[in-house]
Amino acid sequence: MDNSPLQVVTVPTAPYPDQRPGTSGLRKKVYVFQSRRNYLHNFIQSIFSSIDLRDRQGSTMVVGGDGRFFNQAAIEVIVQMAAANGVGRLVIGHHGIMSTPAISCVIRKYKAIGGIILTASHNPGGPDGDFGIVFDTANGGPAKEAVTNKIFQISRTIEKFALCPGLRVDLTTVGRQMFDLENKFKPFTVEIVDSVESYANLLRNIFDFAALKEFLSGKNHIRIRLDAMHGVVGPYVKRIFCEELGCPANSAINCVPLEDFGGQHPDPNLIHAVDLVDSMRDGQYDFGAAFDGDGDRNMILGKHGFFVSPSDSVAVIAANIFCIPYFQQTGVRGFARSMPTSTALDRVAKATKIELYETPTGTKFFGNLMDAGLLSLCGEESFGTGGDHIREKDGLWAVLAWLSILAARRQSVEDVLREHWLKYGRNYFTRFDYEDVEIDAACEMMEDLEIMMADKAFVKQRFAVGDKIYQVDKADNFEYADPVDGTITRNQGLRIIFSDGSRIIYRLSGTRSEGATVRIYLDSYEREDIFQDTQVMLAPLATIALKISQLHQRTDRSGPSVIT
Ligand code: G1P
Ligand code: ZN
Repeated sequence: MDNSPLQVVTVPTAPYPDQRPGTSGLRKKVYVFQSRRNYLHNFIQSIFSSIDLRDRQGSTMVVGGDGRFFNQAAIEVIVQMAAANGVGRLVIGHHGIMSTPAISCVIRKYKAIGGIILTASHNPGGPDGDFGIVFDTANGGPAKEAVTNKIFQISRTIEKFALCPGLRVDLTTVGRQMFDLENKFKPFTVEIVDSVESYANLLRNIFDFAALKEFLSGKNHIRIRLDAMHGVVGPYVKRIFCEELGCPANSAINCVPLEDFGGQHPDPNLIHAVDLVDSMRDGQYDFGAAFDGDGDRNMILGKHGFFVSPSDSVAVIAANIFCIPYFQQTGVRGFARSMPTSTALDRVAKATKIELYETPTGTKFFGNLMDAGLLSLCGEESFGTGGDHIREKDGLWAVLAWLSILAARRQSVEDVLREHWLKYGRNYFTRFDYEDVEIDAACEMMEDLEIMMADKAFVKQRFAVGDKIYQVDKADNFEYADPVDGTITRNQGLRIIFSDGSRIIYRLSGTRSEGATVRIYLDSYEREDIFQDTQVMLAPLATIALKISQLHQRTDRSGPSVIT
């Protein structure tokens, strides 16, 4: 065997104009990464170059992905480039697989300077699907805009990248591998770690596993059904729920991670989590949950498939937060939700006199508040819930939070919700997604809406549908001033707020790999009429939202692609 040190080479390249990270990293079709010369290399080099050399030299970084097609090939390149860029140690999930929350946990545990997550979250995978790259910083959360802007700027002018072409990493064996590099004193180290262990340890310190075990597998245990949707969470569900908490084997479905998620969207909602929804219908299971491809999202269902809207989910966790031992120890510093998320959480914050933060869409905005000790619990309407134990949303954590609440209250999911609405009133909430619309039509609609909303006459305007009348109270383009560092983030969605507190919000998705997706969010609060059907209750607002925007006429659609 040749023991001579590995060569570091510099390869000339040409920049691409379209490597701007979106809501959650760089997301493109797999073929873009495969067919465009050095597309992956350019972006990875831009990430490394964005880190000050002094911080990078000899540092530790974490790498893992949700196991989708191209995951492994990308990791092999990243290892070669990390070594050539002065990183001292890479910690990588076994087989290159690790959930997004687990990566956040491992970055923090190893005091790494950051991590690279290979995922396109809930978007489909496989050769025709999506691939994505997210850069997390030292706090274990997605890089802030200042960092992603820097990465983007570098990617626009990049001329070369560095790599060690001869470096071959073995992702299949847990343990340490050392590589001697030319002109380097210290060997470059790769540590392949068990993907579940550190994360499971963290959860053990947050929840009462003994009580949960009794609740899930003791006498009179409840029956649960967890759907990993062939994403990364499968092995976590098996180890934590089946092996450790004693759930029977039929509690866990679709637990083998597949490169194409079995051809489905690994997106935990009522449309895509069909296996779970079907198996919950006949009342065999008391509690159900599904997760997305990389494990940061969750959907919660009760018996007979009773749906918990994510906006309600975070409000219920907030109202019952002391059922979770971790919060008994840390206390509760603050609550936060993304702007489009319903205001159900605000009511709990008000009643408990806990600070409420309203942030732009995307996980990265929560991290800053958590780092400053201002935030304990956060949620997004897009099926994301999290605590300050890490800096990513956390699907399994949300499920354990819910089970802790059910175990303490000895009530069904539906009863917990009903009591919640009786106490706080109910926010009816829905989101319409119009996928793959023409970018120009979508942008024009947003521009025209903004102009219309800026007109003085728009405020106080009344809209009537049947016997419902809504009067505009406020209309703006949401912007956020970070209370910690003062950074202003503009253009985060058009909001129309009516005098009764109901809201219509228009946003363009920032996670599409191509084309545009228009999202319309509808949120309406009812104090008394709390047991109605969501779509029926929101129908008047929907009519107004479509009338104001002329969305159907402008995009030649007759309805949304997805309603959640
Ligand atoms: C979507 C969700 C957002 C979430 C993000 C990443 O972003 O709406 O809440 O944080 O995915 O999971 P969007 O496509 O709307 O920009
Ligand atoms: Zn995700």
